[in-house]
Amino acid sequence: PQVLVINGPNLNLLGSREPGHYGVRSLEDISARITTLAGELGADVDIFQSNAEHELVGRVQAARGRADFIIINPAAFTHTSVALRDALLAVDIPFIELHLSNVHAREEFRAHSYFSDIAVGVISGLGAVGYELALRAAHDHLSRN
Ligand code: DQA
Repeated sequence: PQVLVINGPNLNLLGSREPGHYGVRSLEDISARITTLAGELGADVDIFQSNAEHELVGRVQAARGRADFIIINPAAFTHTSVALRDALLAVDIPFIELHLSNVHAREEFRAHSYFSDIAVGVISGLGAVGYELALRAAHDHLSRN
């Protein structure tokens, strides 16, 4: 199975960006870990990051008919992007919404997501290990559906 991992704006700065919220592991480190885990699970992961909404929308659109599952950390677009929500609805690929920090324990504006009600599930507040948990959950979902 093909799993697409999409990371939104400012996640390229992981490791140095507000480590109290987002931890000390870089996106490269997280990516290496989930690539290894994917190999163990017999899955293929394709990992993408962009700061630009149109590139994220484009990547979701391009996944139609190619990816079996999407793991997405929409970052700040979680709270703003109807366009990214609509792209996920359009391609009809099951997805998990993922956040490193607990978005419910922070500013009130982070509690609302444009994705949670259409996601298979949501992981928030477990740090970088959330990516590994999401991949395991994706694998489990695909083996059942
Ligand atoms: C985030 C939480 C968002 O509120 C924030 O804008 C991010 C990262 C997280 O992974 O905890 O950029 O998605």
